[in-house]
Amino acid sequence: MSNPAPLRDSFGRVHDNLRISVTDRCNIRCFYCMPETDVHFVDRREILDFEEIERFARIAAGMGIAKIRVTGGEPLVRRDLPVLIRRLAAIPGIQDLALTTNGVLLADQAEALYEAGLRRLNVHIDTLDRERFFRITRRDDLPKVLAGLDAARRIGFSRIKLNAVAVKNLVEGDIVPLALYARENGFEVRYIEFMPLDAQNLWDRSRVLLADDIIAALSREISPLIPVPDPDPRAPATEYTYADGGGAVGFIASVSRPFCLNCNRLRLTADGKLRYCLFAIEEDDVKVLMRGGASDEDIAALVRRNVAGKWVGHEINSGKFVAPPRPMYSIGG
Ligand code: 5AD
Ligand code: SF4
Repeated sequence: MSNPAPLRDSFGRVHDNLRISVTDRCNIRCFYCMPETDVHFVDRREILDFEEIERFARIAAGMGIAKIRVTGGEPLVRRDLPVLIRRLAAIPGIQDLALTTNGVLLADQAEALYEAGLRRLNVHIDTLDRERFFRITRRDDLPKVLAGLDAARRIGFSRIKLNAVAVKNLVEGDIVPLALYARENGFEVRYIEFMPLDAQNLWDRSRVLLADDIIAALSREISPLIPVPDPDPRAPATEYTYADGGGAVGFIASVSRPFCLNCNRLRLTADGKLRYCLFAIEEDDVKVLMRGGASDEDIAALVRRNVAGKWVGHEINSGKFVAPPRPMYSIGG
């Protein structure tokens, strides 16, 4: 199916980017995403199977989606993920396929993922300190993550990005060591301002370590940061390079520099719901349509309706903000 009209919302934003969550399960328990205990995972039968995910991705590609990012929960806990990666990589129109992982299982799977056609990886790592890693994730898996990063680099993944969540009074001491580690290994850190998506309502503005503070610390202690000229206006990260030529750093400053006006992203949750925003309150049910025998055209119409109803953006900075009913692990980042 091919429908050339772009997926444009009522604010003129064209959507060419789809994030697909393949599971809400995770093997660690980062406090800014998951509760420590009593995590409610969706029943396995409610999770889209590979045929359903691939079908949706094909329909979306026919509507102008050109970039797909696979997320979770933790996507590598989904059995046979490389099989899905190969199928997504083969969809005509998909020019860019990426994966966000916590890296714990990466050493075992990096080669199979690469062989399946994956070339781009974001690995979630906030600290190089084993004790702090444990405090954040409630698991002692830092050595596995580092081994995973090492394996991915050796196998040939290019421009591996490190996602670090910036939480105030917690990770200040990790900012510079992580940046130095990234420079030494050819990785690019992206500091993500802590967003109100945790499962326990811990978020508060005062707990966000702001991009400007990180920029100041890196500039002072490593090398001045220079904004990248003519950046891609639709990319969520603001990019900087070090004045000494030692690589780049990105900031996802959702709180201090919201980027909703350039948003090009749609999200499919593991249980088959379509969301036009990380913070959306409403969602559309793709799975019910698919399992009820809907045609590709019916599903395409649902996608158009979802995009047409997209709001202007989250209101984290206004009193009107309402946290979404799902925490991060069940949306997919
Ligand atoms: N705020 C900001 N980033 C978060 N992540 C998870 N929870 C939060 C949060 N509350 C990040 C993780 C993961 C990515 C998908 O989202 O770093 O890599
Ligand atoms: Fe797992 Fe990612 Fe959530 Fe951490 S942020 S608990 S790695 S899904």
